Amino acid sequence: MNLVWTAADADAMEDCGRRLAQACAGHGIIFLHGELGAGKTTLTRGILHGLGHVGAVKSPTYTLVEPYELAGATVFHFDLYRLLDPEELELMGYRDYFRSDALALVEWPVRGEPLLPLPDLELTLTPCPFGAVMGRRIELQSRTPYGVEILSRLTG
Ligand SMILES: Nc1ncnc2c1ncn2[C@@H]1O[C@H](COP(=O)(O)OP(=O)(O)O)[C@@H](O)[C@H]1O
Ligand SMILES: [Mg+2]
Repeated sequence: MNLVWTAADADAMEDCGRRLAQACAGHGIIFLHGELGAGKTTLTRGILHGLGHVGAVKSPTYTLVEPYELAGATVFHFDLYRLLDPEELELMGYRDYFRSDALALVEWPVRGEPLLPLPDLELTLTPCPFGAVMGRRIELQSRTPYGVEILSRLTG
């Protein structure tokens, strides 16, 4: 299943993240594709705020993963941009982060292939003009039955 959203600015992007947070109910695996500056961290911020996080969300570029223990969910936010070798994931015990009761959000998942598990959703963010300003197109693709369920909640 496949869904396309557009977001004219960063606030709209965060709103998309909040909608996604409601639909995924705090668990699953979501890959975030897109170039530097595509809006992956902004969308993640919206998801985290939607799940009750208050405060800053920075991309864990150097630590690779940032955990969030929220009232309604445990979230692991990965940024694998600086991952040089997928073996680094083994060293950090990455399997523990992809738990069925947690939500894993992964920026730059291609850097972690082929070790990463199959995601429920793959999101692809690309620039998209809104009149004179540049917004973003967000394509949401399901990869598992649970991913289909999430997208069904968003459309239904
Ligand atoms: N839908 C959008 N339209 C316009 N600008 C956006 C949108 N979403 C995010 N931005 C802006 O793009 C910049 C990069 O966003 P960021 O989320 O850090 O990208 P990434 O994590 O993909 O590198 C930020 O200044 C952010 O405010
Ligand atoms: Mg980022």
